[in-house]
Amino acid sequence: MTYRTRETPRARAVRVRAPGKVNLSLAVGRRQDDGYHALATVFQAVSLHEDLVATDADELTVEVRGAQADQVPLGPDNLALRAARLLADATGVRAGAHLIIHKSVPVAGGMAGGSADAAAALLACDALWETGLSRGQLAELAAALGSDVPFALHGHTALGRGRGHLLSPLLTKGEYHWTFGLRAAGLSTASVYDAYDQVVGALAPEEPDVDPELVRALRAGDPVALGAALSNDLQPATLELAPELAETLAVAEDAGALGVVVSGSGPTVAALARDRRHAQAIGRALLDAGVVDGVLHAVGPVPGARLLSTTEGTGPTPPGGAQAFGGPKPVPDQD
Ligand code: C5P
Repeated sequence: MTYRTRETPRARAVRVRAPGKVNLSLAVGRRQDDGYHALATVFQAVSLHEDLVATDADELTVEVRGAQADQVPLGPDNLALRAARLLADATGVRAGAHLIIHKSVPVAGGMAGGSADAAAALLACDALWETGLSRGQLAELAAALGSDVPFALHGHTALGRGRGHLLSPLLTKGEYHWTFGLRAAGLSTASVYDAYDQVVGALAPEEPDVDPELVRALRAGDPVALGAALSNDLQPATLELAPELAETLAVAEDAGALGVVVSGSGPTVAALARDRRHAQAIGRALLDAGVVDGVLHAVGPVPGARLLSTTEGTGPTPPGGAQAFGGPKPVPDQD
């Protein structure tokens, strides 16, 4: 991979935002020789964001802030650190970076928060180190980091094939309102796929496919039809591991959700609402019934990882979370 040499003053702090996702449908095939399952999934990026600030440093380090920050590993397994290291290795960069992540996407919730961190770190370090990679080159690195990382870069609504990493954009109309029912205890993606093998095993389709009704609903901007078409092949496996989610699904349905589905590998439950007020009413119903540990509201689709601002020169290192540093130079929305 080639990279640009430094001609301009180095950006000292780069602020990037990347979205979480919900799988509107997740069709899962058999486990392949590489250990992954063939997927046909429709992702939608939603307005729960990970904000990441990257600043110059000698070493690569990460700091995580936000409600569930204590649940995020800070060692070499941290996906943002892995992303930065992969970019440095691929481009021959020797510099370090200090990454501050402000989390809003639930941890281990099936909404790809860690993948959003990785996508944000790729984009931020590419700007900080002026490695100048194209979106395509970044997407290649993203796919090496995890199945959902390319989508966190891409955003909007997209069909994912392969491991979920081969993306094609889908035309959609309108804005969709979501209520997410959260559980404090996360689920590991690998364990849900293992349970899927136990539950479905050889009955899994050889070539999973997307329901054309779902694609039609998105194209028409029809939330009622979309609600009816939401699906997740991993849901029975998720319910096997977390049976209490059945109640969460039922309460959201009773609250009039247009559709309810476990998000990705769970345990977050995603309920599609008619509008913002309805989303709030579903959230209240979930809290009142005591079947969730928290709720979040969001809209989708939203753009993928994007640069929000850079600061140049030798100004102070940003002291706080992603919102906290002064004097940013806004970067126009690239989408
Ligand atoms: O790609 P990622 O690291 O997010 O995947 C985590 C785990 O989820 C994998 O190690 C694998 O066990 C499982 N997985 C799978 N098939 C996929 C995606 C993930 O079996 N398409």
